[in-house]
Amino acid sequence: MLIKLSKASDCKASDITPESFYLSRRALLGGSVAALAASALPCEVGAADISRYADVEAGAAPGWFSDKLATARWQAVTAPGEGITPYKDATHYNNFYEFGADKGDPAENAGSLKVQPWTVVVDGEVGKPGRYVLEDFVSPYQLEERIYRLRCVEAWSMVIPWLGFPLSAVLKQVEPTSKAKFIRFETLQDPSSMPGQRSNFALIDWPYVEGLRLDEAMNPLAILAVGMYGRELPNQNGAPLRLVVPWKYGFKSIKSIVRISLVAEQPRTTWQAIAPEEYGFYANVNPEVDHPRWTQARERRLPSGLFSPNVRTTQMFNGYAEEVAELYGGLDLRKNY
Ligand code: MTE
Repeated sequence: MLIKLSKASDCKASDITPESFYLSRRALLGGSVAALAASALPCEVGAADISRYADVEAGAAPGWFSDKLATARWQAVTAPGEGITPYKDATHYNNFYEFGADKGDPAENAGSLKVQPWTVVVDGEVGKPGRYVLEDFVSPYQLEERIYRLRCVEAWSMVIPWLGFPLSAVLKQVEPTSKAKFIRFETLQDPSSMPGQRSNFALIDWPYVEGLRLDEAMNPLAILAVGMYGRELPNQNGAPLRLVVPWKYGFKSIKSIVRISLVAEQPRTTWQAIAPEEYGFYANVNPEVDHPRWTQARERRLPSGLFSPNVRTTQMFNGYAEEVAELYGGLDLRKNY
């Protein structure tokens, strides 16, 4: 982000599949529901069906994941009329600095990440702290498919069908104390499997850390994802557990989470610590507040290329204003970028 400026050569996704091919079924059926909190929407419960997405490689999902898929609510939230990004772009154009700084590095290098077994710690200002193996952590929750826009601060965007569960459900379960005001998330730190943590690319003070205000984290759109495109998360997309906060720039959606801490003070987050004048704690998608070095009024929707840049207007809160704007009443969004 700070280091790599987007350039035309970055966006050479040449194998473009017609957008119509990827339209979600609900969109094809002419559904008119806006992206809303899942509870308000119709849903399907059914067996796993990665065939609904073209070109998706079957993963090596653990048994618990397949069991969870059998009761998933498909298309619990959709992005009507928007084409889902081809799987190949979503899995080969990534930011995951633990595996390198180039967009193709995560797909190339993240195979070294061992995601089974995986432990998640919940601690800090909670009545019920715990240390869980991933399948126990996920066990109480029903998986939902949430088709969300993903807008990177670098001004590219995608539409991704995530599989996850509301972060709010986890928070209710662990019983935040009255002192809990923020959530701090931490990515695995393991230089032996994460080459980016061994390199001289030392701007990042590992581990990668992100955070949310407690009320933001309780918003129904904020999810913890364990899958995408009807299968488990590929390593390069943050396996086995990542945050997805669709109204914020992508860097808030921290990958490969090992610790979730409820805290009293606003946490020191990775990109804000590196360049506070460029990357704020809030990082809400806002077309009216430019990055100091480029406009945020527009975005390149992937796949995009030199001859079909696929540029579109960026929406306030990435199109989720109806669901989240009230979180920021009275806050100066120019100062709190
Ligand atoms: N999480 C960790 N641990 N490390 C990272 O480098 N990059 C962030 C975010 N989460 C990042 C991370 C950024 S800048 C973006 S845009 C999104 O992941 C990209 O998610 P994707 O590669 O699945 O599209």
